[in-house]
Amino acid sequence: MSKPLEGIKIIDFTHVQAGPACTQLLAWYGADVIKVERPGAGDVTRNQLRDIPDADALYFTMLNSNKRSLTLDTKTQAGKEVLEKLIRESDVLVENFGPGALDRMGFSWARINELNPGMIVASVKGFSDGHHYEDLKVYENVAQCAGGAASTTGFWDGPPTVSAAALGDSNTGMHLAIGILTALMGRAKTGKGQKVAVSMQDAVINLCRVKLRDQQRLDRVGYLEEYPQYPHGEFSDVVPRGGNAGGGGQPGWVLKCKGWETDPNAYIYFTIQGHAWAPICKALGKPEWIEDPAYNTAQARQDKIFDIFAFIENWLADKTKYEAVDILRKFDIPCAPVLTMKEIAEDASLRKSGTIVEVEHKQRGKYLTVGSPVKFSDMTVEITGSPLLGEHSDEILASLGYTKEQIADMHANKVV
Ligand code: COA
Repeated sequence: MSKPLEGIKIIDFTHVQAGPACTQLLAWYGADVIKVERPGAGDVTRNQLRDIPDADALYFTMLNSNKRSLTLDTKTQAGKEVLEKLIRESDVLVENFGPGALDRMGFSWARINELNPGMIVASVKGFSDGHHYEDLKVYENVAQCAGGAASTTGFWDGPPTVSAAALGDSNTGMHLAIGILTALMGRAKTGKGQKVAVSMQDAVINLCRVKLRDQQRLDRVGYLEEYPQYPHGEFSDVVPRGGNAGGGGQPGWVLKCKGWETDPNAYIYFTIQGHAWAPICKALGKPEWIEDPAYNTAQARQDKIFDIFAFIENWLADKTKYEAVDILRKFDIPCAPVLTMKEIAEDASLRKSGTIVEVEHKQRGKYLTVGSPVKFSDMTVEITGSPLLGEHSDEILASLGYTKEQIADMHANKVV
């Protein structure tokens, strides 16, 4: 079955996580992604956090599946010539070098546009062009702090907290993938390429949209009724950290289940959705709360929301997180067990859907990775192992017209 992005050739000049997550996604959907790496070294994640000596680390393998690897020293004249040839016949170049690195290499947007006016050049940087921090190099947690996520995550009596979810890295990569696909659609109409840029700060801010909503509400009314600080605590003039509060219009909290004393993840997330109040009362064996004016509106419940959560925890005390969810789901209550990565790795439904997949790798043998979170009716997304460093150098150089002797020469001179 042909894949939608088949025929799209991508020069993947990315490293670490933000860029590789983007190009991996495009490779899953059929693009020919050529990962260009420095000879002898490659993407730094090949060596970072290794669990098997001399084998590519999971950090690399889980972000670079379905790609081909070309080693190329693009600071040498011969390497630049190869890159020029590749640019002439590719559709997209994706990079997430530090600020200015591509220009210093001699491949400014103007130069690439001159070589191939249809080329889309897609970049991830820490901050956007012209930003007062535009010269900064940035990693995940730096972006989470600069994007407003850290100041609004965690508990009010603790420090700003970063999330385990890669809001700065993979999230930025996903935004960039949307930008690339949009530019490809644009090019189909105009024939012209363009520059697509996403900054990690901006991508985090986009996900913190509701916190900017809250800042403006706070400025106007001085409190935020869905935060634990309301109505008994204090608000300053900035959006506070709300612990595990729902964040939207539905109050929610992480609640203890049977075994929490010894199992740090024996919890569920419980949401009190307004129109589910009656089913919640039925599930908890508290039918008298359904019509009680002290409980029957969201507003009436606000000042005793933590007493209600305490009552629910009492109800949960003899139920495991799975038993609790199995009861609550029958009442249409939005809830879920707090799952560990071990539970996710072993989850039969996630294996069946292809969200968690086992992949074969030449050095490692089998390893688990996260498959496509997007499911299509007309395409099965197959995940293949990541390439070894330079695994496809010779075949790619041959396809660009280089002879065996020229390729051997490039190896000898460490250009590839
Ligand atoms: N051949 C020759 N040189 C190469 C090369 C190749 N194939 N690939 C990369 N290089 C060079 C670059 O030209 C650059 O050289 P220069 O600084 O002398 O111009 C250098 O290698 C790479 O620099 P840089 O990207 O700044 O690497 P770093 O390890 O110092 O910084 C980051 C890493 C991630 C902090 C930085 O790349 C960055 O801020 N990127 C943008 C934001 C981002 O994506 N952050 C990471 C999210 S996971």
